[in-house]
Amino acid sequence: MCGIVGYTGSQAAQPILVEGLTRLEYRGYDSAGVAIQNGDGIDVVHRKGKVAELAHTLAHFDYEGTCGIGHTRWATHGKPSEANAHPHTSCAGDIAVVHNGIIENFMELREELEVRGHRFTSDTDTEVVAHLIEEAYRERAAAGAPDLLGAVADATARVVGAYGLAVICANEPGTIVVTRKDSPIVVGQGAHGGYVASDIIALIDATRDVVVLADGQFAKLRPESIAYFDEAGRSIEPTVTHVDWDLDMAEKGGYPDFMLKEIHEQPRVIRDTLAGRLVNGALTIDELDMTPEELDLIDRVYVIACGTSYHAGLIAKNLIEGWARIPTEVEVASEFRYRNPIITPSTLVVAVSQSGETADTLAAIRDARVKGAKVFGITNVVGSPVARESDGVIYTKANKEIAVASTKSFLGQVVSLTLLAMMLAQSQGKLRTAEVKLLFRELADTAEQVETILSNEAAIEAAAEACKDATSALFIGRGMGSAVSYEGALKLKEISYLHAEAYAAGEMKHGPIALLEEGFPVIAIATKSPVYDKVISNLQESRARGAMIVAIATEGDEDICNHADHVIHIPPVRDAFSAITASVPLQLFARAIALARGCDVDQPRNLAKSVTVE
Ligand code: M6R
Repeated sequence: MCGIVGYTGSQAAQPILVEGLTRLEYRGYDSAGVAIQNGDGIDVVHRKGKVAELAHTLAHFDYEGTCGIGHTRWATHGKPSEANAHPHTSCAGDIAVVHNGIIENFMELREELEVRGHRFTSDTDTEVVAHLIEEAYRERAAAGAPDLLGAVADATARVVGAYGLAVICANEPGTIVVTRKDSPIVVGQGAHGGYVASDIIALIDATRDVVVLADGQFAKLRPESIAYFDEAGRSIEPTVTHVDWDLDMAEKGGYPDFMLKEIHEQPRVIRDTLAGRLVNGALTIDELDMTPEELDLIDRVYVIACGTSYHAGLIAKNLIEGWARIPTEVEVASEFRYRNPIITPSTLVVAVSQSGETADTLAAIRDARVKGAKVFGITNVVGSPVARESDGVIYTKANKEIAVASTKSFLGQVVSLTLLAMMLAQSQGKLRTAEVKLLFRELADTAEQVETILSNEAAIEAAAEACKDATSALFIGRGMGSAVSYEGALKLKEISYLHAEAYAAGEMKHGPIALLEEGFPVIAIATKSPVYDKVISNLQESRARGAMIVAIATEGDEDICNHADHVIHIPPVRDAFSAITASVPLQLFARAIALARGCDVDQPRNLAKSVTVE
């Protein structure tokens, strides 16, 4: 997620923009820039790195202009660099744009604009927007009615994807036009002018009365007033929201901790990770950088990763073997690197790492490449070592994750690996186009299903309350459910310090069942699947020994209440996608127990967000 700020008023814009960008930097950014109206023109300054770098450079200029926009970037298209930093400008440099989101059709728009003579200076998707607005503005000016607001509306009508946009134009001094679709934009009128930001935190010093733009709406900020318009350009009365948050609450978007905020971002992560992947009915992962022939040749897959990322790999194994029928091994990187795995030129190694800098995963990547494997990275951090050292990379669209325990980045990994599994199956002729389309649609539906789970926390809270004083817990499941239970147990132990273990449910009677006694918590993934009946048998065995059963079950399954003490219902999904939905209540469950035990859910003891040592 990138950050947008804008100001127009009676004061110098430069310090206001820098302050706003600094407020947004807690999300972690790789480059920043501002565009400030000065005299007749627009001055643009970008810097790679932190906002402090930008501030240092700007101190030499000390612009007096009172209208400007700024941006901190978390790279999605194009590596972090000065050229790719926002704002981006039109050919004539008289229009400047900052953008959050992803323009899905940017390649075709760019080709079209280049044919008409536009020159591009970055690799970003955003730059097409500046050129589209430039064309629309010229057309309107030629017709005798130059209008920035109208030009922004013309341009966004051509764009497919998600955007929060703020735009300035040298010919309309003091005006900022903003609009949005699936990416937040907040506007507010302060004592000294109008403010815009992608996040309330950047403007709460100026005003506590804000307007959260709805999709398709526009706002035109002038120094003394702000006007609002609907999609059709009709003037509208805005809904003003008063916020009482302090700075800390604002950083967390009003959530009590980052973990909860990030859990609630997961529907967006699913949507962003899927955006632009299905083109004319075919799945596309250009970043794989492999020809269809190369993909067709793959006859063995290793997924290497650590911790939560390893659990995403366990889920992927089920999918790759199930759909593409390619033998797949999942291995913790610290083991893989010290043994002698069988690798041939037709082996694909998939390295999964949220941070992109986990030492063991990196070492395993290097080792696999030396042995001749193609390595494909899945990471959340653009330009990270995992990305740089892999032959191809998919970036999960989780955006910066601040809580140490991975939640949204895990879901981003699972969705990315699901796409990879579908891609392999498609390339090897194991899934037909119609099947891929259907699967993709159902995968996209999980965003809404996760929203449903997030809006229904009562059963999760009740189960957590019942388990909070336990000294140990078992997570069990079969198939997909077994992979999910490993992640559920890790989440619980790392943030609540309650000992938890996961077992394939069928393994219970081979040892762990000896642990069970009155009230011992057994958390079972018991969603409807081909192995549902088997899981129920395991629940009965556990209950007969006094275990307290918490079941994650499919909506509509009331019979499960006969076998469990606490039931958390989740929407029905195809078994292949059940890991996506079943993981979410387990994240909330772990958090609720951790809070009940007085733990800091964002910064658990002894852990670090990235593990760069062996
Ligand atoms: O950055 P990575 O995905 O490579 O990190 C791997 C593990 O260190 C990480 O998943 C860890 O297990 C987290 N604490 C999980 O919440």
